[in-house]
Amino acid sequence: MRILITGGEGQLARALTAAGPAGGPIGQVISLGRSDLDVTDAALVRRAVADAAPTVVVHCAALTDTARCEREPDAADAVNAHGTENVARACAAMGARLVAISTNEVFDGEKGAPYIEDDEPAAVNAYGRSKLQGERLARAAHTDTLVVRTSWVYGGGAADFVAKVLAAARAGRSLRFVTDEAASPTSAADLAEAVRALIERAAPPGVYHLTNEGDASRYAWACEILRLAGMGGLTVAPITTEELRASGYDGPRKPPYSALANTRARAIGITLRPWRDALRAWMTARPEATTVRRGMRQ
Ligand SMILES: NC(=O)c1ccc[n+]([C@@H]2O[C@H](COP(=O)([O-])OP(=O)(O)OC[C@H]3O[C@@H](n4cnc5c(N)ncnc54)[C@H](OP(=O)(O)O)[C@@H]3O)[C@@H](O)[C@H]2O)c1
Repeated sequence: MRILITGGEGQLARALTAAGPAGGPIGQVISLGRSDLDVTDAALVRRAVADAAPTVVVHCAALTDTARCEREPDAADAVNAHGTENVARACAAMGARLVAISTNEVFDGEKGAPYIEDDEPAAVNAYGRSKLQGERLARAAHTDTLVVRTSWVYGGGAADFVAKVLAAARAGRSLRFVTDEAASPTSAADLAEAVRALIERAAPPGVYHLTNEGDASRYAWACEILRLAGMGGLTVAPITTEELRASGYDGPRKPPYSALANTRARAIGITLRPWRDALRAWMTARPEATTVRRGMRQ
């Protein structure tokens, strides 16, 4: 099997390229970063997919900076909506299966329970709207499309929440996190394994939710990160989004509760472990994420 990955320098793409527990990637992997394959360039995408002649394309490229998407909605649409459509069209032309990665932020977060794949999306910010449009354009352009929605992915890199919390704690900055935004923290490595499983099992086209199990607020997630890093004694202030905005934060609106239920994946035997277990495994594998020696960690 030949797998082409877009957005090759991102968190999920790197996890997909890395050897998994089964001993390695599921086939020959061609991973292209933005400098090699800008997905907004339709002709380039067509050529790259034709040259690679992949069995499957895992489309990870995206503008994931939600604040930037809010400031520059046209840029968000160009990458997340039309870039995804470009990839889908190229896959259709080559008869390659498409796995397009999407987000919990296609939902408004008002349901009050985990979203299943058939729930009606209603994005509340520019990032979510651009990703939802990408889902729709991809499925319209290519029938053999699997849309994989996930949430709160961490896996290394400056933009990941785990790294941000640890950096803030080490810099002695005040630690305050919202209690009224919740989803499922998801390990890029676990997500990569689940995506591999979807491909290996030749899952039928459609929408799949893939997140680590359980949910957390940003506050609960940050507290767990600090506890695992041996910094559980630090003071962390729980605040509301309203309080955060009153103190000057002007970021995009977020869905208050957008945990996803992985119902379709579970039905075909694909399950992910609870988010706390995945976070512990990720931080244990990276001693630099902790401030105490391994044997001393709680
Ligand atoms: N991170 C999360 O919490 C999260 C949550 C839910 C869903 N997702 C989805 O999961 C997927 C993977 O996310 P991730 O966390 O791995 O994101 P990431 O680390 O931000 O990776 C995305 C990659 O796409 C690249 N990219 C941006 N514009 C591009 C373009 N025009 N052409 C080609 N590549 C481009 C980025 O390059 P530059 O950095 O150079 O711009 C980056 O390397 C995305 O579809 C994302 O929407 C992520």
